[in-house]
Amino acid sequence: MKIQSKSLIFLCLAIVLLFGAPPAGAASLKPAHAEKAMVVSVHELGSKAGLDVLKAGGNAVDAAVATGFALAVVHPQAGNLGGGGFMLIRMADGSTHFLDYREKAPAAATRDMYLDAKGNVITDASLYGYKASGVPGSVAGMVMAQKRWGKLKLQQVMLPAILLAKNGFVLAYEDARDFKDKHLSDFPESKRLFQRNGDFYKQGETFKQPELARTLERIAADPSSFYKGALAHEIAVAVRKGGGLITEKDLADYEVKDREPVRGTYRGYEIIGAPPPSSGGIALIEALNILEGYDLKALGNRSAATIHLTAEAFRRAMFDRADFLGDPDFSKIPVPELLDKKYAAAWRESIDPDKSSLSKEIHRPAFKDLDQVAGLVDPHLRTEIREPMNTTHYSVVDAAGNAVSVTTTLNDSFGSHVTAEGLGFLLNDEMDDFAVKQGVPNTYGLIQGPANSIAAGKRPLSAMTPTIVLKDGKLFMVLGSPGGPRIITTVANILMGVVDFGLSIQEAVNAPRFHHQWLPDSIAMEKVGFSPDTIQLLSNKGHKLDFSGYWSDGECIAIDQKTGERLGGTDARNNGKAVGY
Ligand code: GLY
Repeated sequence: MKIQSKSLIFLCLAIVLLFGAPPAGAASLKPAHAEKAMVVSVHELGSKAGLDVLKAGGNAVDAAVATGFALAVVHPQAGNLGGGGFMLIRMADGSTHFLDYREKAPAAATRDMYLDAKGNVITDASLYGYKASGVPGSVAGMVMAQKRWGKLKLQQVMLPAILLAKNGFVLAYEDARDFKDKHLSDFPESKRLFQRNGDFYKQGETFKQPELARTLERIAADPSSFYKGALAHEIAVAVRKGGGLITEKDLADYEVKDREPVRGTYRGYEIIGAPPPSSGGIALIEALNILEGYDLKALGNRSAATIHLTAEAFRRAMFDRADFLGDPDFSKIPVPELLDKKYAAAWRESIDPDKSSLSKEIHRPAFKDLDQVAGLVDPHLRTEIREPMNTTHYSVVDAAGNAVSVTTTLNDSFGSHVTAEGLGFLLNDEMDDFAVKQGVPNTYGLIQGPANSIAAGKRPLSAMTPTIVLKDGKLFMVLGSPGGPRIITTVANILMGVVDFGLSIQEAVNAPRFHHQWLPDSIAMEKVGFSPDTIQLLSNKGHKLDFSGYWSDGECIAIDQKTGERLGGTDARNNGKAVGY
C-alpha cells in the first residue's frame, strides 16, 4: 500500500512546517503551559511528532503512537521497534487500559541458558548479541493501541517517524557521544549504521536511516508483516544468522496482553499503575502505603527524616519485589496482599525513625499467607550490584482529556547492540531482566527470585512504571521515567514532590532524587541538591550513601485543576521537551 494520498502530503507539509516551530516549553524552573493538549518526551522531535498528529485531528493514543515510532528513529538508545513496553491509557470517559507489549522469551529459551557447564553465569551473554533478545512486542503494542483507540489511520500516525528516518535529523552532542558505544562496534550492521564504519558522527551532522525508513513504511502499509509475513521472515533469518533464538514461529505467536492496571490511593489521590509483569505499580503503591503513615510534610521536603523514612519504605517494597514478582501468566503473584494498607502498617512497625535497618536482616511481617508463597529468593544467595542503564518514557494528554503514559525499552542503551541486518532497527537485550541465576544481580543490580526465572514464552520482570494519578476522580498527573529500578523511586519522588510538598510538576521533576533498592544496602543520592547537613544526618542514622549512577528522566504532565491547563514537567537532566497547544 502506498502512503501518498493528498491528505498525507498535506500532513507531511504541516509536519515540515511544524518541525521548524519553537517548542511550547523547554525544561526550566516552571512547567510548560498548554491550554488543550501536551506531549512530553526525552526528544523534541519525538514530542513534536505527537503534537503534529494531535493537530491533524488525532487523539492522545494516536499521538503516543506517533511519538513512540518517532523515538525509535531519533532516540535509538531506547526508543524502539525491536523492544517492548507498557502503555497505560485513561480515556476521558474514565475507562482504563494497560497494554503489555513486553518482550517474551523465545520458545527455545531455557532456565539455565546463560550458565556455563559449572553453573556460573557466562559474562555478558544475556546483555550483548543475538542471544540476549526476547521476542519484540513494541510494534504489536503500538499498532493495537492505535487501531483500538486511535482516530487516524496508522499511516498518518507513522508518517512523522518515516520522514525523520528518511530525511534525517540533526544529532545532538549526546547522540554523537552515545553512538561511539564500544559494543555497537562489535556488530557490523550497527557499526555501519551508527558509526559509519569508524568515521564517527559528530554533533550537528544530519543522521539519515534509509533502511529504518523502509521498515517503517512496510509496517505502516501492513503492520501484521512484522509478525507474520515478509518482515517476520527477514527478522528471523537475521537472528538465525547471528546465532539467536527468535524464530518466525516466536514472532507469529507473540501476543499483546490487555491487563487490568493495579490501583491504590495515597493521601486521597488515586493511583493507577502498572501490573505484573511490571513490578512498578506494586512497588510504588506498597512504598506509598508505608509512607502514608508519616506526616512527611511536617518533616520537610528532602529533610534527613523524610529521606530516611522514604528509603526504608523503598527498601521493603524492593525486598518484596525480589521475592514475589514475575510474569503473572507463569506464577501466582499475591497482588492484593502486597497492596493491602494493613500489610504496609505491619511493615511500618519495623522502621526505626532514628536508625537505618540492615537489608540482610529485615524480616517480612507475618501477613495472611505471604510467607507460604513457594520459591522465595534463597537468603544465602542474596548478593550485590552492577550498573543501571536506559529506557524511555513519554506522556500525552489531549484536548478531550484522554491520557496516555508509555514506558518503552530495549533494556540497555542500544539493547543487545545488534541491528537486524537490512532492517535498520536494534534488537533488545531484555533477557537480562530475567533472573539469569537466582541471587545473582542483573544489569541493574536487582536480585530476583524463581518467579522471574527464564522459561519459554515468559515475560521478564520489569520496573517500568507508567502511572496516572487522579484527584477527586479527575485526571491529575501522568507520570513515568526510565532508570531501571530507579524508575520506581523516581516516580515516587515526583509524585510525593507534588502531593506531599506542594511542588509544581516541573519543580517535582527537577528536585534531587534518591533511591533504595534493598540490595545493595545504600541510599543512592543525586550529587547535586542535598545539603551537607542532610547527608551527615543520614550517615548518623547508619545509612551508607552512594552518589553514582544514572538519574532517570521524568517526562510528566499535570493538569491544573482550576483552569484545565496541561502543565509539562520535563527533565533537564536529558534535554526532555514538552510541546503543546
Ligand atoms: N528493562 C528495564 C525494565 O523493564 O525495567
